[in-house]
Amino acid sequence: MTEATTLRDEALGAISRASTETELESIEIEYLGRRDGKISRRLMSGIESLPPDERKRLGQEANEAKQSILEALRTRRAEHEAARLADLGETEAIDVTFPAPPLHRGHAHVLSQVRRELEVIFERIGYTVEEGPEIETDWYNFEALNLPKGHASRDVQDTFFLDANEEVVLRTHTSPVQIRGMQRLGSPPIYIVAPGRVYRRDNLDATHLPYFMQLEGLAVDEGLTVGDLKGTLHYMVQSLFGADRQVRMRPHHFGYTEPSYEFDTLCGRCKGKGCRSCGGEGWLETGGCGMVHPNVLRNGGIDPSRYSGYAWGFGIERMALLKYDVEDLRLFYENDLRFNRQF
Ligand code: DAH
Repeated sequence: MTEATTLRDEALGAISRASTETELESIEIEYLGRRDGKISRRLMSGIESLPPDERKRLGQEANEAKQSILEALRTRRAEHEAARLADLGETEAIDVTFPAPPLHRGHAHVLSQVRRELEVIFERIGYTVEEGPEIETDWYNFEALNLPKGHASRDVQDTFFLDANEEVVLRTHTSPVQIRGMQRLGSPPIYIVAPGRVYRRDNLDATHLPYFMQLEGLAVDEGLTVGDLKGTLHYMVQSLFGADRQVRMRPHHFGYTEPSYEFDTLCGRCKGKGCRSCGGEGWLETGGCGMVHPNVLRNGGIDPSRYSGYAWGFGIERMALLKYDVEDLRLFYENDLRFNRQF
């Protein structure tokens, strides 16, 4: 036996025992590797120093050994592949009837839901949605609303000013959209709601946020009265909370309405008797409202001798809190999914 046939038989034995592709690969490298393979290293080293016919014989033997090893590898690999394919139906079958893991679908945040619900409630009775900028001038936020410089209710607003002259502000309420709406729409009838974010220098706690959302409403037409205002608020509260909820109005003061009121919603728990959730009042404070002051109509470009108007404003977070019995306003902005997923 020549060394070539010994090496060949050794390799063929290893190939017939190999059961994985990884093993076949290492056998291939061990015997046929270009630089360190046993065939090339052991058989061909020093071949240059042999006489020509010796050299030729050795080369032929090495080549024959190499061809038989390659052939055995090919055959063995084909056997492996055939076995794998035969098993495929068992090992890699896909069961198309197996239930898929549930997909998590997102949804609108509860505040967006309530805001949209309110818009739809008013769209149903002919109101359109108006928007205004969150960065406002002093004129729109105060002056045009009959709140001149030095007016007492300016302090109450706790304004974020954006410039040293205190001419540019983060709007403290959505009421400036009353003026912008009248200017943009021109002549009455005007029936608009203006939802949006407002800013106040309040410290964060369970009942105060430095920014929150309001929904402003404004109607300007011929012959509007406090009765129309109350009917509208009634319609809104009953649409949002249910037909058993009444509205009451208490006299108040706002520069931009005359007369002015605060309005309350009948407590859903005790229905007016007084309980813990309404602080014994029987009613829940909801927002402000009134008949639009003639100066405000004038600043919106509307003739107060011909038209009258009513307006209201309230916090959307507060409405969501009343609707869903949430005890802390901060929950709306923490984005804790355990909270958000409930709605
Ligand atoms: N702007 C008031 C506030 O931020 C709410 C308000 C009161 C709006 C009376 C009105 C209104 O339109 O007529 O508290």
